[in-house]
Amino acid sequence: MEVISCWFVRKHRLLYIILVINLFWCARFMSPTYAYDSLDPNGNITIRWDVLQENEDSSKDIRISIVNYQLFRQIEEPGWKLSWRWAGSEVIWNMFGAEATEQGNCSVFKGRVAPHCCEKEPVIIDLLPAAPYSMQVANCCRAGILTSITQHPNKYVSAFLMHVGIADPSDAPPGMPTAFSIGVPGYTCGEAVQVLPTKFTQDQGRRTTQAFATWNVTCSYSQFRASLAPRCCVSLSAFYNETIVKCPMCSCACQDQPKTQCAKAGESPPTMLQLSPNKLLVQCTNHMCPIMVHWHIKQSYTHYWRVKVTVTNLNYIRNYSDWYLVVLHPNFRSVEQVFSFNYKPLNVYENINDSGVFYGIQYYNDRLLQSGKNGNVQTEILMHKDTDFSFKEGWGFPRKISFNGQDCVMPSPNDYPRLPNTAGSFQSQPPASMLLLLFAIHMFLNVDRLYKM
Ligand SMILES: *[C@@H]1O[C@H](CO)[C@@H](O)[C@H](O)[C@H]1NC(C)=O
Ligand SMILES: *[C@@H]1O[C@H](CO)[C@@H](O)[C@H](O)[C@H]1NC(C)=O
Ligand SMILES: *[C@@H]1O[C@H](CO)[C@@H](O)[C@H](O)[C@H]1NC(C)=O
Ligand SMILES: *[C@@H]1O[C@H](CO)[C@@H](O)[C@H](O)[C@H]1NC(C)=O
Ligand SMILES: *[C@@H]1O[C@H](CO)[C@@H](O)[C@H](O)[C@H]1NC(C)=O
Ligand SMILES: *[C@@H]1O[C@H](CO)[C@@H](O)[C@H](O)[C@H]1NC(C)=O
Repeated sequence: MEVISCWFVRKHRLLYIILVINLFWCARFMSPTYAYDSLDPNGNITIRWDVLQENEDSSKDIRISIVNYQLFRQIEEPGWKLSWRWAGSEVIWNMFGAEATEQGNCSVFKGRVAPHCCEKEPVIIDLLPAAPYSMQVANCCRAGILTSITQHPNKYVSAFLMHVGIADPSDAPPGMPTAFSIGVPGYTCGEAVQVLPTKFTQDQGRRTTQAFATWNVTCSYSQFRASLAPRCCVSLSAFYNETIVKCPMCSCACQDQPKTQCAKAGESPPTMLQLSPNKLLVQCTNHMCPIMVHWHIKQSYTHYWRVKVTVTNLNYIRNYSDWYLVVLHPNFRSVEQVFSFNYKPLNVYENINDSGVFYGIQYYNDRLLQSGKNGNVQTEILMHKDTDFSFKEGWGFPRKISFNGQDCVMPSPNDYPRLPNTAGSFQSQPPASMLLLLFAIHMFLNVDRLYKM
């Protein structure tokens, strides 16, 4: 066995290294698919399960909160769809602030008032904002939409109440279910972990009460698991060169692919109203993306430089509420002023302040309207020129941009607008290439161990 595996490793070592290098090459220039987001390494969504009351008939009153601790990724339409698997014969008698999509088979309660839900694996959705007042609780009724913790101080939590009992009286009282899911592509949830009981303040903070027991379930996102096709691309220009570098061809789809649908600018498509908001009907372009981000290096002053960023919605059937943009650029440690957008630096690593999140100003441009003459939002960013500042070699262009948590396809660095009279070919950043090589060497040294795992 050992002999065979050794032979296998030798034969495939070279192939393996080429593969690793290729993977990293792709990851650098195309949209990366890491299982973990380096811009938000601790980001997670926590489902908190608070047992508020245990009743004599062994039923329980439970409050469930879904808290989005991610720095910039939000839960968009059609919202979360929470589900789990009960261990025994639990049923949900009542629910406030949310509802189960199916009541299920409640025939054991024949002749009595039937519970709200008798499913073994209930699927719970948020109520709509127009829900009757008597069904509402604090932090409910936003159709399952959650902003990130950065964007809104009170819209990143969703909560609902339920009264849970058991169908079979010989069963134990309702317990903690398993197999949690929030029903949004890309997220997986772990097991429930009992934590210190949640405390609630009353009487303006003068009295504190606490839950009987509290469990947390942590859900994390991976773009790889979400495996979504790109929905966004980047185009570039600079005052020092008249070339406008367009989004790469077919970034999101190709026009001539079967099943792709698009409408020419100015032409209003007749089928528009029948399509659901999650469908796409984009303007016909070479890239076919619903969202395009344009980065223009606008001006250079003695100590500062100015960039204009325009986000254009090319989708005819979707307004993006609470949109946000995450940008990585080394000069973001010296952002002097941001016009017309909100800006928050993402200082996840204390000494590298190279990324930030941009989002709209409430009631002004926090909604990115559907394709048309108002279908864009713009900002200008003023940055201080630090010692490493340069217009050379595309330094002024962003390293990475994502819109609503999805990476945008960047043009190839070979195509970036060049300074006039710069000789020689375009170089990619040497430190990154160096890292790549080091990584490959590291993998080479560890390859035997990997194969034996
Ligand atoms: C989830 O995120 C919160 C806030 O960033 C953090 O305190 C907590 O440790 C995270 N949980 C896990 C399991 O990573
Ligand atoms: C509903 O549940 C009862 C007992 O719990 C069972 O006898 C019956 O067959 C079920 N009905 C359906 C349609 O599954
Ligand atoms: C459990 O979740 C709550 C959020 O509702 C959070 O405040 C708390 O820190 C979490 N506890 C642990 C141990 O992750
Ligand atoms: C987008 O918003 C505009 C202006 O508020 C509205 O006229 C339009 O119907 C909305 N479109 C969709 C698809 O919701
Ligand atoms: C990065 O930001 C943090 C918090 O704003 C600050 O403490 C730190 O000094 C900054 N680091 C650099 C290199 O600017
Ligand atoms: C502008 O940039 C393009 C693309 O890199 C390059 O081909 C062209 O020569 C540049 N124009 C001038 C005037 O330098």
